[in-house]
Amino acid sequence: MTDEPVRLTTTVKGAGCAAKLAPGVLDKALCGLDLPVDPNVLVGLERADDAGVYRVSADLALVQTVDFFPPMVDDPFSFGQIAAANALSDIYAMGGVPKTAMNIVAFPSKTLDISILRAIIEGGLDKMREAGVVLVGGHTIEDSELKYGLSVTGYISPDRIMTKKNLQVGDCLILTKPLGTGIITTAIKAGLADQAVIDMVTMAMTTLNRVAALTMDSFQVHACTDITGFGFLGHLAEMVVDSEYGVRINASNVPIYSEALEWAAMGLIPAGAYNNKSFRGSFVDFSTDVNQNVQDLLYDPQTSGGLLIAVAARDAENLVDALKMNGIDCAAIVGEVVREPVSRIVVV
Ligand code: CO
Ligand code: CO
Ligand code: CO
Repeated sequence: MTDEPVRLTTTVKGAGCAAKLAPGVLDKALCGLDLPVDPNVLVGLERADDAGVYRVSADLALVQTVDFFPPMVDDPFSFGQIAAANALSDIYAMGGVPKTAMNIVAFPSKTLDISILRAIIEGGLDKMREAGVVLVGGHTIEDSELKYGLSVTGYISPDRIMTKKNLQVGDCLILTKPLGTGIITTAIKAGLADQAVIDMVTMAMTTLNRVAALTMDSFQVHACTDITGFGFLGHLAEMVVDSEYGVRINASNVPIYSEALEWAAMGLIPAGAYNNKSFRGSFVDFSTDVNQNVQDLLYDPQTSGGLLIAVAARDAENLVDALKMNGIDCAAIVGEVVREPVSRIVVV
């Protein structure tokens, strides 16, 4: 080992942020399998959602999720914070309250100093503390590539589960974090991003969706998800797939990092964005006014992205105001649920 600071992102083989299995691949693996049936499973594998939900009693259910990935920033403490915030996010996207977590670690102990693992876990603990979550265990394996994440269990009320379905016509769609972390972390990996941009995007990715979730709790929210690896349009597609309605997105209202737009114009687009486009592009109609860089950003895979909330139209402005009052400055109404075209996304 040398005195040079270790660049964690250069140890990652896959491009972009989370080195995720290409969309659709897991569906093929699961297709036709005989999955166990239990009436207490309120949200399971039958339809893509943020987390599983299992009813314990009439007024209590468990909400469970797991997420882990290789580093997308070089600072180990920040990486730990990001991975934890990302894993916790799926609990918040369901309307749950996270309670316990377990570490999932793959660590190359022959090439990286153990102090790096300690800093990563400290970063994770920092976010768990903020979330009011206790670490109760974990599992660590030796691997050639560093990976870290959490499995998280929370409480949720069985009659207030925010799934991806249940869009109502007229609902407004609200997004709580800007898009572009996939492109920016690709730039970080390529050594193109300066410290100010690294700090900005790290701050965004380490921000818990906790405040956004607590805020939406007092409004009439019909559906919610968080924007992660499949990108804005990929996760939106999951909301419209079996819906009786469609959605109309105003691209100019979608918060996007200007740096990400500049790098997109230079062609610095992670492979995941192309995967997302080929997987879900058939659901999307772009108006000719939407420029190519913005289109690419709408497919950009996000790490620890914001919540995408479908809220009753009469509550929409008030929810945006409340989110802003609680420090979520970029919260914006980005579109609405429309009667037609059914199960499609129109971007204007
Ligand atoms: Co999710
Ligand atoms: Co997830
Ligand atoms: Co949800």
